[in-house]
Amino acid sequence: MKPINIGLMGVGTVGGGVATVLKRNAEEISRRAGRDIRLTIAARRNVEQARELVGEEVAIVADAFAVVDHPDVDIVVELIGGDTVAKELVLRAIANGKHVVTANKKLLALHGNEIFARAQEKGVMVAFEAAVAGGIPIIKALREGLSANRIEWIAGIINGTSNFILTEMREKGASFADVLAEAQRLGYAEADPTFDVEGHDAGHKLTIMAAIAFGIPMNFGACYLEGISRLDGRDIRYAEELGYRVKLLGLTRCTEDGVELRVHPTLIPEGRLIANVNGVMNAVLAKGDAIGPTLYYGAGAGALPTASAVVADIVDVARLMTADPEHRVPHLAFQPDQLKDLPLLPM
Ligand code: HSE
Repeated sequence: MKPINIGLMGVGTVGGGVATVLKRNAEEISRRAGRDIRLTIAARRNVEQARELVGEEVAIVADAFAVVDHPDVDIVVELIGGDTVAKELVLRAIANGKHVVTANKKLLALHGNEIFARAQEKGVMVAFEAAVAGGIPIIKALREGLSANRIEWIAGIINGTSNFILTEMREKGASFADVLAEAQRLGYAEADPTFDVEGHDAGHKLTIMAAIAFGIPMNFGACYLEGISRLDGRDIRYAEELGYRVKLLGLTRCTEDGVELRVHPTLIPEGRLIANVNGVMNAVLAKGDAIGPTLYYGAGAGALPTASAVVADIVDVARLMTADPEHRVPHLAFQPDQLKDLPLLPM
């Protein structure tokens, strides 16, 4: 059978990880997808740097529009980030009838409603497991694993950079600025790290999880955001003396009155599992009315963990490509025209 051709836009930390995983696990991935998966073309302004990361056999272009317009590309992987050029590229890929896999939480939290509506019109898929909690398959858990439940609330450590900073400050007495620089060096932080430390990145991810869990549109504007930049070593030490850990949590609840979305530093009793999630690890608790509380844990950032989620989406899309477009609901828990407009509780 004809292989599935992948066009990759953005060859950085995660893009390099995607190329590595596709190559390293090619046999298992093809068996799971039912077809060979071939990384055909990749775009990065610096073509030479891209070559080092993806290898000789992949065509490399400087212009990402050449990827979305390429006639042989079946699935476009967007790892450029941001919501300007990335939005244009994703909408053009959809208009060209290509399926999209993206790790771009900002793009979806801000423009997901439009993107999913366009995808539905064109009968293509937009998959985004890597947009939330790195390698943890939380989107699939909320969308498929808990699909029998009314999900009541979600609470999670969903920004690896902030959790890494809080952990290093507590364990090593390191300074905020030093740990942030280390997180940037390790490729955990966003291009603009204020997104990490001011709670925006966690807010984007929370917005996406709430949309999936409660079947509502993306409502990033309704999310209360407070980050960790005003915390210092004393806050963390005093919390510890009182038997607590400070964690940046994203919390969302669906009640009869509406939906609440908030991100802020939270004191958690030190004996709780989630208080002991350290470093770049993420953890998400989700409560369903049938199953009760559930917990998901794993690496929330980094090249290979995030690539794990991107490639899982490629496999997912590859499997569903043969299904009748009318019956594909692979991205949201509900089709865009079936979402509920629940009231949003004030911040
Ligand atoms: N900057 C993000 C984080 C990367 O630290 O969690 C993964 O989304």
